[in-house]
Amino acid sequence: MALVNATVENVSVIGTGYLGATHAACMAELGFNVIGVDVDPEKIASLAAGDLPFHEPGLPELIRKHVNSGRLRFITDPDYTTVGAWADVHFIAVGTPQLKGGTGADMTYVDAATKGLTQGITKDSLIVGKSTVPVGTAARLAELIQDNTGDGITVSLAWNPEFLREGFAVEDTLTPDRLVVGTASEADEQVLRAVYAEALGRDTPWISTDYQTAELVKVAANAFLATKISFINAFAEVTETVGGDITTLADAIGHDTRIGRKFLNAGIGFGGGCLPKDIRALQTRVAELGLDHSMRFLDEMDQINLRRRKKAIALAFDLLDQDIEGKKIAILGVTFKPLSDDVRDAPGLDVAARLFNAGADVAVYDPQGNTNAAKRYPRINYVNTLNEAVTEAELVILTTEWDEFKALTPTDLHNKVTAPRIIDARNVLTPTDWENAGWTFAQLGRKFDS
Ligand code: UGA
Repeated sequence: MALVNATVENVSVIGTGYLGATHAACMAELGFNVIGVDVDPEKIASLAAGDLPFHEPGLPELIRKHVNSGRLRFITDPDYTTVGAWADVHFIAVGTPQLKGGTGADMTYVDAATKGLTQGITKDSLIVGKSTVPVGTAARLAELIQDNTGDGITVSLAWNPEFLREGFAVEDTLTPDRLVVGTASEADEQVLRAVYAEALGRDTPWISTDYQTAELVKVAANAFLATKISFINAFAEVTETVGGDITTLADAIGHDTRIGRKFLNAGIGFGGGCLPKDIRALQTRVAELGLDHSMRFLDEMDQINLRRRKKAIALAFDLLDQDIEGKKIAILGVTFKPLSDDVRDAPGLDVAARLFNAGADVAVYDPQGNTNAAKRYPRINYVNTLNEAVTEAELVILTTEWDEFKALTPTDLHNKVTAPRIIDARNVLTPTDWENAGWTFAQLGRKFDS
């Protein structure tokens, strides 16, 4: 007999990275008893002590609140027998990174967690997949679950993709703009309705569908967002050549509510642990299905995006008259976006590393990202203040739009730099302010005459 219309009290969250740690804390905030499980004992020890191993506004406070209230625990549970005997609903929130040496998603962690968890479960339960996966995964996992379920119990599977943004993870989880659930039965849907009762009470759109749609909704959303960014960046390539103002162009088309202004900020492009790998995994998956032509445009989006980094580097060479050897270049921002310490596939870090490798004396400052960046590129010089980065710089490049950088004025920097040259690779500064103050100023999407 399946878990029916359950009064769900106990939930487990398998995987305590970005998604899992946030989901676990938010489930506790919604009143559930929660156990977060991870294979990494260090991560568990740190979370159990109320410390977050990454930067996410509001999340450490929420974790501490519920670790202290006793509603939230973090454990390693190698054979899943603790949570398997305890929780009614288990969320799978492990990572699906890009395969090393490939473009598809690495399903090792999802597969291992699902199989191990199912073998540890000793009562009727619902497993809910939240990880971003190639379409077809849930159907495959449903069979894996069936093959590994103990006698006399029913374990079923639902797919419930997550749309949280880093930097707004708590807000997006507690007040999502929609909830999507792919289930194999009405009973499982009812269990999830009970889990998300609070959001449903606020009339949050509830999309109940099949596994394939639920899986595809997630990758379609990220592919669309990536396409929007690359779309405007493709126009940036045009305005860089013919002249024109890319921000005004974005504003103007964005007024059309069918288009919308969000995700039309031209600049150095998208990075992070999701958009780049998700568009590659999607293409790989549809190619496996014999449909490589359907998503071929995503390869173009990827290329447009990566060309933005090259353009920023080309501008750096232009502003330094093609001679960057030994020149001090201040890189402001190496996280893939503000409010995060995540440097995965971060455009700013990529640019910093390439300029460093080309012989520049690169000084990196990021309010949150230095530590993670230094793990990836230890030889680059990371400094603790904006001031140290720009002092005696021959070129400043703004690569992540942190508030601290957006607020910069020419006078803030003028007496510090050796030469007043700046590239605003996020289009957040006002060109005339800088040009009138005597700066050589360049932006992505803006014609630059060297
Ligand atoms: C993205 C999606 O926005 C979330 O909905 C999704 O849940 C998440 O991936 C995921 O799959 O887990 P996130 O990676 O946090 O969230 O980052 P975004 O806010 O989407 O930004 C992605 C990149 O696009 C950043 O590097 C940002 O600087 C860049 N971007 C964004 C632009 O270059 N221009 C824009 O107009 C907007």
